[in-house]
Amino acid sequence: MQILVIGSGGREHALAWKSAQDESVSNVFVCPGNAGTALENKVTNISLDANNFEIIETFCKEENIELVIIGPEQPLVMGMTDYLQSKGINTFGPSQAAAQLEGSKTFSKDFFVKYGIPTAGYASFNDYDSSKNHLDTISYPTVVKADGLAAGKGVIICNNKEEALMALDSIFKDQAFGEAGSRVVIEDFLEGEEASFIAVVSKDKIIPLATSQDHKAVGEGDIGLNTGGMGAYSPAPIVDEHIHQKIINEVMRPTMNGLIAEGSPYLGFLYAGLMIKNGELKVLEFNCRFGDPETQPILIRLKSSLVELCLAAINDEMDSYKIDWTSKHACGVVIASDGYPESYESNKEVILPATSDADVKLFHAGTKLVDQKVMTSGGRVFCATALGEDLKTAQSKAYNLVDSVSFEGAFHRRDIGFKGIK
Ligand code: AMP
Ligand code: GLY
Repeated sequence: MQILVIGSGGREHALAWKSAQDESVSNVFVCPGNAGTALENKVTNISLDANNFEIIETFCKEENIELVIIGPEQPLVMGMTDYLQSKGINTFGPSQAAAQLEGSKTFSKDFFVKYGIPTAGYASFNDYDSSKNHLDTISYPTVVKADGLAAGKGVIICNNKEEALMALDSIFKDQAFGEAGSRVVIEDFLEGEEASFIAVVSKDKIIPLATSQDHKAVGEGDIGLNTGGMGAYSPAPIVDEHIHQKIINEVMRPTMNGLIAEGSPYLGFLYAGLMIKNGELKVLEFNCRFGDPETQPILIRLKSSLVELCLAAINDEMDSYKIDWTSKHACGVVIASDGYPESYESNKEVILPATSDADVKLFHAGTKLVDQKVMTSGGRVFCATALGEDLKTAQSKAYNLVDSVSFEGAFHRRDIGFKGIK
């Protein structure tokens, strides 16, 4: 069987790497992929325009692609799944309508209220003046969010009214997030510990994946700007049995049922970003895809087949799929380009380690292959991921791997996993 993965990040390297391990899979194409997928056994990069769904359809038909896995949110929100499925191509990912859960914060917040899903109080505005007036009526800190997709960077935590005004200025006046900032959500600041809860969902069926925790802030101790994620580990001890059950009952089931009631049943990875405090939880956001970097430590722990899992979800056969995990812990540390999540330089040559340890994997993100050399091409460049008998061991192996990779301007957080170890 041949499959196609859409995307180019660390998540897509992990999806392709895991899929290629299946004996039934002869080749995994990745569009467009990165240097990591280019160097992977049984994986081939293709440079087609993924925004042109007809071109992807033609490729799938020519190559007899039996499964398409869409990694990032953008093509999902643009309706790639709807298009490919309408052409008879097995595609794993939510419809455009269901992907609105991530595509619009106003949509998702209204949905939470309608279906009784716990979340922070909020108000949504289409213009500068009314959002500015609202700042006089709330307490601080508060959180200002661009409504649309902003690669994890459209959320600004404001300690006082002045900061909130600056956030509104940057969103409405400077258009820092473009179209994504034509509407804002202003919501109550929540305290607690975050966790990522990611599941494979097919209509009313759910298979939860291993739990994980991301580190969104750029700096150690969770300070500084928000990023797409600077590292993650799995499992996340904050999600104990009690919380796990609460997430299923209070968040996932009402969401799945709500989407069915709205006429857009869910298919794909469904990711709830949660804030947990004193055994209670609130949803910060939904993502309509796998997390990046959560995918890397989660998939390195998955023993059963990812391809079979996706096909079971598409074919409504989730009941017969048995998911199997290693009991080992995993830790993934992102190596980024100096300046990320703001501006950074690219095209730096990378010196890579030679490692043959099966419990250690360097997933590529912003890299490209130029004349057989690995060059940097993005803000997040690698996710050094390792398994260990406990989180501390996994963490120390991941940092050994981090220390063996070098390029000009490389930086990383030294504390990935600290809450899990504490
Ligand atoms: P979001 O894209 O909505 O998940 O926001 C990105 C990050 O901003 C989250 O992972 C949190 O770290 C932080 N954040 C978002 N909303 C809130 C909130 N209401 N209170 C506190 N932190 C938040
Ligand atoms: N790591 C956070 C995300 O994928 O949105």
